[in-house]
Amino acid sequence: MIADVVVDLQYGDCGKGKVAHHLLNNNHYTHVIRYNGGCNAGHTIFHGGKKFITHHIPCGVFYGIKSIIGPGCVVNPKKFFEEIEDLEANGISASELVKIAENAHVITDFHLAQDGKDEDIGTTKRGNGPAYRDKYARRGIRACDVPELAPFLVDMYQELYEDSNPEKVEILFEGAQGFGLDIDWGDYPYVTSSHCTVGSAILNGVPPRCIRDIYGVAKVYETYVGAKEFEGDDPIFDLIRAKGEEYGSTTGRPRQINWMDFDLLKMAIRINGVNKLILNKTDILDDLESWTLYNEDTMYEFKNGEDFQYWIETKAKEVNPEIQTTFSSSKYAI
Ligand code: IMP
Ligand code: MG
Repeated sequence: MIADVVVDLQYGDCGKGKVAHHLLNNNHYTHVIRYNGGCNAGHTIFHGGKKFITHHIPCGVFYGIKSIIGPGCVVNPKKFFEEIEDLEANGISASELVKIAENAHVITDFHLAQDGKDEDIGTTKRGNGPAYRDKYARRGIRACDVPELAPFLVDMYQELYEDSNPEKVEILFEGAQGFGLDIDWGDYPYVTSSHCTVGSAILNGVPPRCIRDIYGVAKVYETYVGAKEFEGDDPIFDLIRAKGEEYGSTTGRPRQINWMDFDLLKMAIRINGVNKLILNKTDILDDLESWTLYNEDTMYEFKNGEDFQYWIETKAKEVNPEIQTTFSSSKYAI
């Protein structure tokens, strides 16, 4: 069994969908597994000239690959069915390919009503926190308890070890949210309710030694959506927001912007064991001719994009000498 993991190193919205889509184009995965979160996620994917935003459904469906919502996820059945319908209406045959781990937990109307009242964290109001709370309080409802989900259910053990030849299984793990939102490593309480690191992927049924590549995805600047104050006070952040189209793909909220914090990136590279680093949206800073980041609480301003990228690449190598860094424009897939 082999597994690659796509994991976000900042606050979500770094382009995991794009990276996963690229990897699916260039590899022979047998399964794509979403390993955390629910429909709080919004993964923007360009496929066949069309733009799609997926919330629950892993992007394997765009390539005819079995796509599983893993046991680490929480599922809103109504949203799940809406998303399938939407994909089918746009020519993607999702219903045959999507499966839900029978032990994944369900987001109920009660969870939605409770999360709807949140003012402190700035949640997406998709019921995520209350669903995980009830899971851990051992009073949750699981996918196997919802009759309408029966045709989609899968037993992860059966699927990966009994019905497949484990030697032939190649998984792409698709993460949601990001390191800065991780329940343990993020800036608590301004976090989501799931684990957003590589550790979370292996909880979905795959032994740690099967992991091959860890694709850490970040942007050359940072964005965050939520209640804490995050944005820097330079007016350039308004321009970055506009040029970078930094509005939530799930909620439409404007994302707060700041320069890259290399200390956060370094921590996320180390803790996730990233060996392939992808830095997205270089064109946004290039267009504005402004290349700045923070390192050890000091602001570094660079004269051009080459110097900026060289600095990041060099520092990333100091963190992990094996790391391969790729810079990517928002205009092109990597
Ligand atoms: P929740 O996950 O809806 O409970 O929201 C908790 C925090 O995580 C809020 O600051 C959300 O804006 C943020 N968040 C949750 N999912 C995403 C995502 O997919 N992208 C970016 N931020 C997210
Ligand atoms: Mg997103």
